[in-house]
This record gives sequence, structure tokens and C-alpha cells, in this order.
Amino acid sequence: MLERPRRLRQTPQLRSLLKETSLRVDQLVQPYFLAAEPRAQETITGFTEVYRWGVDSLSGQIEKNLKHGIKGFMLFGSTTEKNELGSGAYDNQGLLPATLRTLKQRFGSQAILFTDVCLCPFTSHGHCGVIDGEKIANDPSLPLLAKMALTHAEAGADFVSPSDMMDGRVGAIRKCLDENGFSDTGILAYTAKYASAYYGPFREALASSPQGGTDRASYQMDYANSKEALRELRLDLEEGADLVMVKPALPYLDIIAKLSAESDVPVAAYSVSGEYEMIKQLVKHGMADERKIILENLFAIRRAGAQLILTYHASQVSSQGWLE
Ligand code: PBG
Ligand code: ZN
Repeated sequence: MLERPRRLRQTPQLRSLLKETSLRVDQLVQPYFLAAEPRAQETITGFTEVYRWGVDSLSGQIEKNLKHGIKGFMLFGSTTEKNELGSGAYDNQGLLPATLRTLKQRFGSQAILFTDVCLCPFTSHGHCGVIDGEKIANDPSLPLLAKMALTHAEAGADFVSPSDMMDGRVGAIRKCLDENGFSDTGILAYTAKYASAYYGPFREALASSPQGGTDRASYQMDYANSKEALRELRLDLEEGADLVMVKPALPYLDIIAKLSAESDVPVAAYSVSGEYEMIKQLVKHGMADERKIILENLFAIRRAGAQLILTYHASQVSSQGWLE
């Protein structure tokens, strides 16, 4: 035998020397849901060890994460007072802007604060844009999304992250931010966001499911397709996205790889709530080593080309020192 691949796998030292992919704690972004009561830590049905946090308890969590090397946090607002136009989304007295102001004051540039920009947690119909009869109306949604992004920027967001999948929203948001003096606020675009069955626990967290048997297929992407991911990439870059993202992550590693090859801005991947909960259930049933399976997944996402990973495992990975 001339070739013996096993020769390079003989010892832990050799295997370590030859590792192609690496993962640092500061490449992970921890998502957070909010609660109104400042000291709250509310459980979420079907979402293991993920909570809705009040501003004080969230401050404590962020402080702990910073100590362990996590630098990025994705924040999701919501309201119990939903209406047709999702007006809570751009109310500067809302839960998210109020929380942001406190966090920014407390942590300054230590914590990089991303905010999700989308109407679905605020609309009575649960769609990501406004509705016109049976349709999700694209253009009338744009000024509302831009207003929402501006509200976040004013309250201290470092990056606003449109996840609505309306056409032209990155451009509309960029223009609105620039016109109002927020040219330093960045945009992390949910560029290739698929209509996925993996969003279940997240929608439970925000009560943001589309109502009345409707779905999001007319604006989120079809899992049979990859070409349109490249088209969305081109448009988001033309419209001024600073960072682009693929979501979900594990079932879409090919899309992460494609976008990473094409994009001249960093590519993020969002490993979503359903991916997280699958792991938690497997572990709960004693069928996987938690550390091993989480790291295997995160390395796969890095290997595909993602520069940063949004994951509900971030806190755990860092606090347990799994990457040291
Ligand atoms: C809102 C949004 C969704 C997620 C983030 N922002 C999904 C959706 O309801 O369509 C999913 C994140 C997750 O499942 O962890 N548009
Ligand atoms: Zn949405």
C-alpha cells in the first residue's frame, strides 16, 4: 500500500497538528428573548434551558458571557399587544428599545448588540410584513421595517438584522439609517432565509406563528432551491448589507458554502431553535454526548465557511470551556 491515510491519525498530537478548521468562542453569537418584568427568567414550552429574560437578569447573563469570551448577542423584541400593522415593532417605548438603552449604557462597546428586525412578533396575523387581503404586501412593509430598524439604532443597536425577507428591505433600511445620522449602524441581513419547519420553539417563544393556517412560503425561500440564495446575496450586497446570513444552518451547509465562496463580506449562519432542540432531546434521552455532538455541529458549520454562528448553545459552550 502506497497510501495509508491512517498514518496521519495515529496520535492526538498529530491529529491536533493537522486540524483544518478551528472555532473560537468569540465567533459565537448568543440569541436572547425578552420579558417585561426586570428580574424575570421565564421558561418557554418546548425550548430546553432557553428563557425570556427581564432586563436585570439579562444584564447578569451578558456579563457572564462576556467573561467567558462571547461578544455578540442577538436580541428579539415582542409584545402582547399585537395589531394589523405591528405598531409595537417601531414603538420606542417598547420592550426591546428600552432593554437596549439599558444594555448599551451598561456595556458600551464591550457587547456587540444585534437586533432582529421583523414584524411577525408584533402583528395580529403573525406575518413578517403587512397584509393586503390574502397577500403579504411587500412595498408597504418597507417603511415600517425601516422605522423599526431606526428605533433600534436610536436605542443603541450595533447591527440591525432584517429577517422579514421582503424585497428591497436592506436598501430601505440603509437609506433610512443614513438619512437619520446612523451611518455607523451595521446591517446583518438574513440573506438566505428558508421557509423551514425548524422554527417551532422560536415561534413559541415570541407567539409569532402565522395565524389561520397560513404560512411564509410567499416570502421565505423554498428548500428545493439554491440559485435564489445567490440572487438574494447579490441584492443584499448591492443594497448595502455589511454581513449576510444563512438560516437554518445544518440542513443548508451547501448554501453556506456557496455564499462563502461568492460573498466579499463575512457570512454568518443561524443554527435555529429546532436544530438546538433536536440536540437537547437526543441528549435528554441519553443518546449522545452533549459536548461532542454540539462541537461536531458547530465545526461542520465553520467547515462549510461560516465566519460567525448564531446558536442557542453559545453560552453553554463558553461557560463550560469546551473550546479551551
Ligand atoms: C422572524 C424570525 C424567525 C427566526 C428568527 N427571526 C423565524 C420565523 O418565524 O420565520 C427563527 C429563529 C429560530 O428558530 O431560532 N422572522
Ligand atoms: Zn418574521
